[in-house]
Amino acid sequence: MQKEDLTFFRKWFMDYTKNFYSSDPFVRENIELKVKHTNKVCENILLLAKAEKLGEKESLLAETVALFHDLGRFEQFLKYKTFKDSESENHAVLGVKILKKAGILSHLSPEESDIILKAVEYHNLMEIPESASNFPEMLFYSKLIRDADKLDILRIICEDYEEGKECQNPALELYLPDTPECSEAVIEDIMNNRMAKIRDVRNRNDVKLLRLSWVFDINFPKTFVLLKEKRYLKIIMSSLPKTDEIQKVIRHLDAYLEKQLAKK
Ligand SMILES: [Fe+2]
Repeated sequence: MQKEDLTFFRKWFMDYTKNFYSSDPFVRENIELKVKHTNKVCENILLLAKAEKLGEKESLLAETVALFHDLGRFEQFLKYKTFKDSESENHAVLGVKILKKAGILSHLSPEESDIILKAVEYHNLMEIPESASNFPEMLFYSKLIRDADKLDILRIICEDYEEGKECQNPALELYLPDTPECSEAVIEDIMNNRMAKIRDVRNRNDVKLLRLSWVFDINFPKTFVLLKEKRYLKIIMSSLPKTDEIQKVIRHLDAYLEKQLAKK
């Protein structure tokens, strides 16, 4: 893969997304949010690529994965007005379909094209399929995009929390109610160092806990460093109710994070 390929992909992405800018302010806000998210995920993946000492060609491939990882989001939002896959369709699979139909990856070697398509397909799964372990390169890029993506989703969430208000965009809160309790199953997963499951999420507290539980699916030391620097987890933690149960969960998460940072 060459530098020119990425330049071409960037231009194609800009032209593609232009089609989705609607006069409806709600649609427009969410399309803009995803374009900005894509740019930030590209920045994040390059930070991780640098920390992992990737060469130029590998970094270009990583950035391409980041550029296309949420390609399906635009059609998804225009069609269903939601980012919730369970109420619309799997945006990663949709992104792969769009990429294949556009045929733009034919510029690359079949191996590179395959890595991009699989990393996009795997980026939103609960976990990367076992079968990917037979393909170390594919597995590596899938891990990179999952970390880079999580970092930026946390930024988006925190931008509003930091100002001490609840998130104003209902699409980001998955349209869930702001009730005071939290789901037992979500807490149990966190206390057992597991990612919480979307099916157990019932309210906004659960959404926050689910996002905190992503720390159990972080793959690279640099991601932990960036998480600490940006204070994303602290911001989410401080937006949760101060109950004994939640304080216990927070202490558990803090201890886990410190342990990961000490490993570097
Ligand atoms: Fe995504």
